[in-house]
Order: sequence, then structure tokens, then C-alpha cells
Amino acid sequence: MKFYIETYGCQMNIADSELISTILIEAGHQLVNNIDEADLIIFNTCSVREHAENRVLGRIASEKYRKTSNPDLKIAVIGCMAQRMGKRLIENYSVDYVAGVDQYLDFPKLIQENKGAITDPDYTQTYSGIRPHHQSRTCAYITIMRGCNNFCSYCIVPYVRGRERSLPAELIIEEVKRCGEKGLKDITLLGQNVNSYAYQDINFPKLLRLLNDIDSIHRIRFITSHPKDLSDELIEVMAECSKICEHIHLPLQSGDNDILLAMNRNYTIKHYINIVNKLRKAIPDIAITTDVMTGFPGESETAFNHTLQAMRQIQFDYAFCFKYSPRENTKAADLPDQIPEAIRLERLKKMVILQREISKNKYEAKIGSKVEIYVESLSKKSAHQVSGKTRDFKIAVLDGTERDLGTLKKAQVLASTGSTLLCG
Ligand code: SAH
Ligand code: SF4
Ligand code: F3S
Repeated sequence: MKFYIETYGCQMNIADSELISTILIEAGHQLVNNIDEADLIIFNTCSVREHAENRVLGRIASEKYRKTSNPDLKIAVIGCMAQRMGKRLIENYSVDYVAGVDQYLDFPKLIQENKGAITDPDYTQTYSGIRPHHQSRTCAYITIMRGCNNFCSYCIVPYVRGRERSLPAELIIEEVKRCGEKGLKDITLLGQNVNSYAYQDINFPKLLRLLNDIDSIHRIRFITSHPKDLSDELIEVMAECSKICEHIHLPLQSGDNDILLAMNRNYTIKHYINIVNKLRKAIPDIAITTDVMTGFPGESETAFNHTLQAMRQIQFDYAFCFKYSPRENTKAADLPDQIPEAIRLERLKKMVILQREISKNKYEAKIGSKVEIYVESLSKKSAHQVSGKTRDFKIAVLDGTERDLGTLKKAQVLASTGSTLLCG
């Protein structure tokens, strides 16, 4: 079959789409980039917020019409929403196939036997040994662990993704080498909580040291780090290893200790700021990005202001701001004192405006400095420009052509748009 994949959610889902592409290609199917050519449309879905699910359900409904002119067309749902909703997607939404996050190896069988849903969890599944069909020509996401044990009280991920398991270090090393040799020289390691990577006697900092020795790559990043597990050893490794970029994504979630406790985050704001100070001392140019949430049950105006205050104090380079969305079966969904939607929305707006201002200042502070840019893609706006990122995760554009893709360029920052550095 000719299959087309549309991916929602986090980078783990992007990596999973690359994994399932390999699985289907090896079974004789063909990946197409144009939905009109497809006879199998796959939606790789996210359940983290209700909005993420509704968007995909809307997309499925709007593509169903294709079945009238092409009765052989099949629609499949994979990923976290497939895991959560299972065969309800077939019964209520005219979906043909549903494969849960641990069942992708059996997806070709599902097609072959024209069967419905497979969603049995398998907490040992790592898909190790399958070489993902990377979409990008310059950057690679590489999954190093799957699942999550943390059970933050608002979060559905542990329920849909199962328990933590780490991939064998030797396979990760081999995949990173292979990517570098193919020209994908910017590597982002993926896990819900990379700090708890553990394979035999190799912990996360050790893994980073091993990867830093690989000649064929230029850069290493990783997401996501949990503040409760970020060790001094990791900070040391980040400071010492030349390929590890000066950037960390460290979700804060809230700046209020009572809310952090109710979220089951296992750290206080004091602990978080202490880590930030250590990181900035060891790695002076480090960019810190975060996730913050507003509207968690019981969040008073004072608690919300504590989050704004923390954002002002810490000065994140970027923050993904979310409004709390109750998820079925999570602890927080049953808490009293749910915050009305209008208040959640109003607080979210305040957060976004504050962060936009902080990010703008961070970008402007770079004007006049020399930066190293890894060229990721051709500019969408100009035929003579390319775009990439600085080591501290800022988007940059500069003059260049196709030839520059996958290379490092030194340039000066001439101006900033507030969210892009213009370099030359
Ligand atoms: N494992 C990562 C990413 C989890 S999902 C981590 O721990 O950071 C990405 C972000 O979505 C989270 O950091 C959180 O800010 C947000 N999120 C998770 N569940 C949510 C919910 N129920 N409502 C709103 N935002 C949520
Ligand atoms: Fe969700 Fe918390 Fe696990 Fe992240 S660490 S995936 S927020 S439960
Ligand atoms: Fe990622 Fe969404 Fe699943 S954030 S792990 S795709 S619920």
C-alpha cells in the first residue's frame, strides 16, 4: 500500500512515525509525502491535552470523504490516543486500523489480515534494532528510552506509554554513528525523562560521554530532563563535552510549592532555582527552556502569581505555556476546585505575553555576538537563505544554499525579529 503519515504530539511521536515507516517499508509498503496518493492514511496521535485529541478527531472526520471516491482507502490511528481509545475509534469514528504504542511491529499483519485494533500494552517493547526512516536530511531524533514512571498527577503519558525502559547503549551508539555518516549531524536524544536512562552500568551522563566521542556528528541535545533527577554528574558532563549544546529543556510546570506538591513533581521552587544556578555557573552561555502550566486544580491567584514571578526571576529563553486540561483517570482530574475555563485562558494569555517579552530580550541580547549555526534547512522565504540553530537553541537565518545543509557556519548576529536571529 502507499501510506501517508500525519504526526501529532511530541518528538517521541515524530521518532515513532519514522520507526513505523521502516516497519511498513520492510513489509513492502511505500511511503508517500502527498496525501492524495495514499491508500493508507495514518494518524499518529497525542492524548496529552483534550485539544490535541479533538484536532485529530476533526482531521479524521475531514478526510473520511476520500473513501467515497476510493473505497479501498484505509484510515489508521496509532500513537497515544490509539492506546487510550482503542477500538472505540473503529466503532465511533470510521477508522479501519488502530495500533497502540507497543504494537507497531504487528501493524503490517493488521493490514494484511484487514483486522481492527491491537492495543495490548507491552512494557518491554523498545523496538531496539529497528533503524528509523529519518525524515530530515540534517537532524535526527533518537529514542533512548520509552515510558515514564513519574505519574505527575495531571499527566496521561504513564498510562498510555507504560513504564520506563532504556534501549541498549550499543544500539544507540550505532544509530548515532549511522546518522552522522548519512549527514544527520545534529542529534536529539529522546525520552520522557532522559535523566533516568539506565542500561547495565551506563547511566545518562555516561551515555552522553560515549556519544560525544563519535566523530561523524556535530551536536547533541536531549529532551526531556526532570528537575528531580538532574544530577551534578550531568551538569559536569554538559560542561565538559564539546558536542553537547549549551541548552537544556527543564520543565518547571509551576512556581508554587503547594501546586508542585499536588502535581507530584517531587521538587520545590527552591530546588529548581538551585539547579538553574548550578547550570548557569558551570555553563555560562546555557539557554534554559521550559514547560509551564496554569489552571491546575486549586491554583489560586497567588499561586499563579508565584509562577509568573518564577518566570521573571529565572528568565527562560523560551517557555511552552499550557493551560491545564483534565485527563480521564489521572489523579488531578478528580481533585476538587477545578479552575473555570475562562480563568485558565486569561492566565494563559498573561503567561504567554510575559514570556514573549523575555524571549524577545534574550534574542536581542545576541545582536553583535558571533554564533555557530548548524544549517538545518533551506529558508522558506528566500532562495538564497538557509535556516538553522545556534548552539543555544535559537533560530537563525543566514545567506546560503543547498550545499550548506548539515554544516556548521560561524556568523555574526546582525538583528533579531524577536524570535529569529538574522545573521551574516
Ligand atoms: N516528559 C516530558 C513531557 C511531557 S508532556 C516532561 O515531563 O516534561 C509535555 C508537557 O505537556 C508537560 O511538560 C506539561 O507541561 C504539559 N502537560 C502534560 N499534561 C498536561 C495536561 N493534562 N494539561 C495541560 N498540559 C499538560
Ligand atoms: Fe508526564 Fe510527568 Fe512523565 Fe513528564 S515526567 S511524561 S509530565 S508523568
Ligand atoms: Fe507525546 Fe502526546 Fe504521547 S506528548 S508521549 S504524543 S500523549
